[in-house]
Amino acid sequence: KKGSYDHFMLKEIHEQPMALRQTLHGRIDGDDVVLEDFPPGSFEGISRVQLVACGTSYHAGAYGEWLLSNDGIDANTFIASEYAAYPAPVDEETLVIGVTQSGETADTLEALQSARDRGARTLALTNVIGSTAARTCDDALFIRAGPEIGVAATKTFSSQVATLTLLAERLVRDVTGEPTADHEARLDALADLPEHVEAVTTDTRAEAIAQQRLGDDGHFFVGRGNAFSVALEGALKFKEITYEHAEGFAAGELKHGPLALVTSDTPVFAIGTGQHGNRLESNINEVRARGAPVVAVAPRTATDLMDAADEFLPVPATHPDLVAVLANVQLQLIAYHAADAMDRSIDKPRNLAKSVTVE
Ligand code: M6R
Repeated sequence: KKGSYDHFMLKEIHEQPMALRQTLHGRIDGDDVVLEDFPPGSFEGISRVQLVACGTSYHAGAYGEWLLSNDGIDANTFIASEYAAYPAPVDEETLVIGVTQSGETADTLEALQSARDRGARTLALTNVIGSTAARTCDDALFIRAGPEIGVAATKTFSSQVATLTLLAERLVRDVTGEPTADHEARLDALADLPEHVEAVTTDTRAEAIAQQRLGDDGHFFVGRGNAFSVALEGALKFKEITYEHAEGFAAGELKHGPLALVTSDTPVFAIGTGQHGNRLESNINEVRARGAPVVAVAPRTATDLMDAADEFLPVPATHPDLVAVLANVQLQLIAYHAADAMDRSIDKPRNLAKSVTVE
């Protein structure tokens, strides 16, 4: 039931604090993680991680790849429908993680099968107990976000990233024998994530910004590091429910081509995490010099970005590894309010299905 909400998508955006509390429940113990089926040592012997996924889950997988890579693990993300075409090395020391909310996406199931056939250990990171992915993989880790009805994935993305952050901690400890470099601060920030997301879902600024930007030619989303995954996700959500053109780019790629598209009718959403010095500020100046209106989405303490951009959508200041999850919630609200103002079929966008069971 949608209750007092006009759409399931808006309800599910607002459910994120609760979904995250469920995701994290009982899984952080002081400066360690407790993952029910994965006691310490579960991932000993793993030397490589591959993540396979589609759409929003692919963006969560890319976020996980970024976390693992920064923690010193050999990790790569693949678009599931392309995985079989890649001659990526796979052996019994390879853990292949299928990131799939439904656990039923045909492309992801096929990629997991291909990994299994080549001797990899497989793990389903999913929301649905009893799903095909959960049943057919060697292991399953549940994101516990609760049912998601809207075709646009929202709360499941946040819960996927939170679960991948927990999994990264277990994996790194098992593979290297040491916790992640910044584990105490990162786990503290993870524990605070529900409250921080709540601060974003109760912020009303996104609605006015979304309405100001109706009728533009295109919408660009840029970021670096894990904010690049969120730039891709922000653009996917926007195009999926508004039917307007939107693209996500690595901020540093703008000058290698996309800048040719930038005009005063192409707003640019720049996602800052506070991790890349003043490089994002330079990118903001680059597009503003071409007339593009810039909305910076960044921690409220990022006054440099606030000053450089036309509009500022703040998120709580937290551990830089988790800022992009919060920025993503602002972008969900931007997409939702733009689509609502255009009277789109938000919960069932044209041509799309919640679960894609064909290859
Ligand atoms: O159930 P899955 O997570 O495997 O689904 C993957 C994609 O089809 C899904 O994330 C899709 O991109 C969303 N509808 C986007 O909002």
